[in-house]
Amino acid sequence: MTSLHERPPVGAVGAATVHESAPGHVTGSALYTDDLGVRLQGLLHAWPVNSPHAHARVTQLDPSPALEVPGVVRVLTAADVPGVNDAGVKGDEPLFPTEVMYHGHAVCWVLAESVEAARLGAGAVQTEYEPLPSLVTIQEAIAAGSFQGAQSTLRRGDVTLGFAQAAHIFEGEFDIGGQEHFYLETNAALAHLDESGQVFIQSSTQHPSETQEIAAHVLGLSSSEVTVQCLRMGGGFGGKEMQPHGYAAIAALGATLTGRPVRLRLNRTQDITMTGKRHPFHATWKVGFDADGQLLALQATLTSDGGWSLDLSEPVMARALCHIDNAYFIPHVEVHGRIARTNKTSQTAFRGFGGPQGMLVIEDILGRCAPRLGLDAHELRRRNFYQPGEATPYGQPVRHAERLEDLWTQLLARSDFSARQQEVRAFNAQHEHVKRGLSITPVKFGISFNFTAYNQAGALVHVYKDGSVLINHGGTEMGQGLHTKMIQVAATTLGVPPERVRLAPTRTDKVPNTSATAASSGADLNGGAIKDACEQIKARLAAVAAGALSAAGKAHVSSLGVHPNDVRFENGQVYPLGRPDLSMTFEQVVHDAYYLRTQLWAAGFYRTPGLHWNREAMQGHPFKYFAYGASVSEVEVDGFTGASRLKRVDILHDVGDSLSPLIDLGQVEGGFVQGAGWLTLEELRWDESGGPNRGRLLTQAASTYKLPSFSEMPEIFNVALLERATETGVVYGSKAVGEPPLMLAISVREALREACAAFGPAAREQTLSSPATPEAVYWALNRARKGAQEKDAQEPAPADD
Ligand code: MTE
Ligand code: MOS
Repeated sequence: MTSLHERPPVGAVGAATVHESAPGHVTGSALYTDDLGVRLQGLLHAWPVNSPHAHARVTQLDPSPALEVPGVVRVLTAADVPGVNDAGVKGDEPLFPTEVMYHGHAVCWVLAESVEAARLGAGAVQTEYEPLPSLVTIQEAIAAGSFQGAQSTLRRGDVTLGFAQAAHIFEGEFDIGGQEHFYLETNAALAHLDESGQVFIQSSTQHPSETQEIAAHVLGLSSSEVTVQCLRMGGGFGGKEMQPHGYAAIAALGATLTGRPVRLRLNRTQDITMTGKRHPFHATWKVGFDADGQLLALQATLTSDGGWSLDLSEPVMARALCHIDNAYFIPHVEVHGRIARTNKTSQTAFRGFGGPQGMLVIEDILGRCAPRLGLDAHELRRRNFYQPGEATPYGQPVRHAERLEDLWTQLLARSDFSARQQEVRAFNAQHEHVKRGLSITPVKFGISFNFTAYNQAGALVHVYKDGSVLINHGGTEMGQGLHTKMIQVAATTLGVPPERVRLAPTRTDKVPNTSATAASSGADLNGGAIKDACEQIKARLAAVAAGALSAAGKAHVSSLGVHPNDVRFENGQVYPLGRPDLSMTFEQVVHDAYYLRTQLWAAGFYRTPGLHWNREAMQGHPFKYFAYGASVSEVEVDGFTGASRLKRVDILHDVGDSLSPLIDLGQVEGGFVQGAGWLTLEELRWDESGGPNRGRLLTQAASTYKLPSFSEMPEIFNVALLERATETGVVYGSKAVGEPPLMLAISVREALREACAAFGPAAREQTLSSPATPEAVYWALNRARKGAQEKDAQEPAPADD
């Protein structure tokens, strides 16, 4: 058949279709895990008992008072676990802990006839704790030497040599804030036993196979005895890659012990209190440039705040290290990565998966150092772009490096950058208390899981006798449009209209051993598997059609012998190449095929070729390709309050040949806004005092945790997809889109830096904290005004911001 990337002249891929569930989303008929509970008889509800300490030994846990609360049916404790009392994949997350590791850690769960009864029951459980010393901040953990997991080093060349050659050397320190996922749907699980006692779990999970494995090992069952289904999620953003397992296991354990269906849904406060977030990072760095501003050497130590358990912290750090170069060639590199262990939620995957934190380090460096090198920041960035033939510090050649320059030039023109730079300067010269900033930043993001084994996927495609198509694949839908794309891929491969294709819910008993829908690779991997399955079926149908068409052809045109390879499937019609006048309907071919006893379904499989990765050496070829993008942001900052407006954003982003342009535009816009939230608004604060609430998350609700909303959308928002961008080797020439656009928001932060700097004397280094909240912006512009702190780059930024 054709290669993976080639598209037929006509087909559903590339069409600007709406999300397959859009009508359901807006009318409320699209169901989510927790909506399904009402359909079950005798449903029980689960509620946790949360620790009031950041770190403590559980000295007493007496559930008996809870059992006296009307409606309470059972209290689940460690004694109930038939299998392994652990909810993680690293063996470091006891499901029922005897030592609580963070404020809000659940020690046991109460099951009751109503949510209210469960809540009252949880309040009645007798617990006593012996508080232990806790580490709440990353600095406390560093000082105490509290680390977890492997420490890794990314190395190329010899930084000592690089610094010896450098004309300019700068050093600094940088703290990067975390981020709450704030998906609209909180974590939910619903479990019941089927008639043969097997466990069926519906879960808001990005990784159904892993949820299945964890639930099975908690229950002491084999994977074949547990089925996990996910209809869809109301957002995951990485927060449902590993965090849902424990909740699914609690529901499943409850169902097994009571024989009744159990529902567990965290409310917003519980979700925000109990579930992991984006990792905060601390970075120290030293960088060397030559006289022209070319990067020569980078030495850095990244410390992430992993929280109480390891979760995905190791791969998150690996991705951070693999993105500290972003779009820039750095000959000599030595970057250490280590994971702090603190008494906080267990930090986890979040859109970009460490990539944003790594990238932010180098972008912060360039933004700070440009004035000291006497260069415009955008010029400094461009000078350092990867050139074709160059490789990353981990040894992977940068495929299509020329796209960086191409995107950059196109975007500078489209956004009218240089004229607007003049306007901004003129505006700033005229306004003392309001300043504007304009910035452009690039993104280069590696696509594939660093962990090679995860880069595989399966699909199951059925063609029924009536010619209708049912597809199933291992990926989950969280709003990103994966299912829409998969319908388009199946329709294109089989040459039928997309309306002929229905998609069935993701379940572990349909497609086993699936990877998380993550690393933006859902469409690449599952699309490859769907295409494989459809092609197997199509090949069989082509043989049938060739026979039928040859016979039909003979009646019309003498000596028409149709070879199966020359049968075309298009728009529900099947015809010999070049002879659409002789077409049969897809339904007719399927009908004939059935009577000829042809297998009309197939299992498809895809694994990304050419990947390898040495985790210890941090070397290899971990990514199939890179996704590129660039963005220009213009902001206006108020000098009295630090408040800012995002006046205009221009984005040019590379999604290869888009599978679904409306979906992809949505992903770019959504990712950008989520990134802007992380960098400018959202600030997680924990109680760092020595008081009784030490370790408690203070920003536990939307009232104190500021999310971007419509009012924070850029006033002018121009998003375009790079054209003629076919990515060979990926399904229908497309590229992954889920995560890379988040990092386009770095231009907002850099524009804020420019605006702050404009309050002070020209060509001074401007530091800016992350998140650049109005408060942080205020302190930054105040520093610029005083023109005081920039005198010495060796000096770390003051702690007040
Ligand atoms: N878009 C929406 N609407 N909701 C989400 O939860 N998650 C993001 C991204 N886009 C997300 C989203 C993350 S973290 C990833 S890894 C990808 O979607 C996962 O889906 P994909 O692999 O199908 O792109
Ligand atoms: Mo996305 S952070 O890889 O789920």
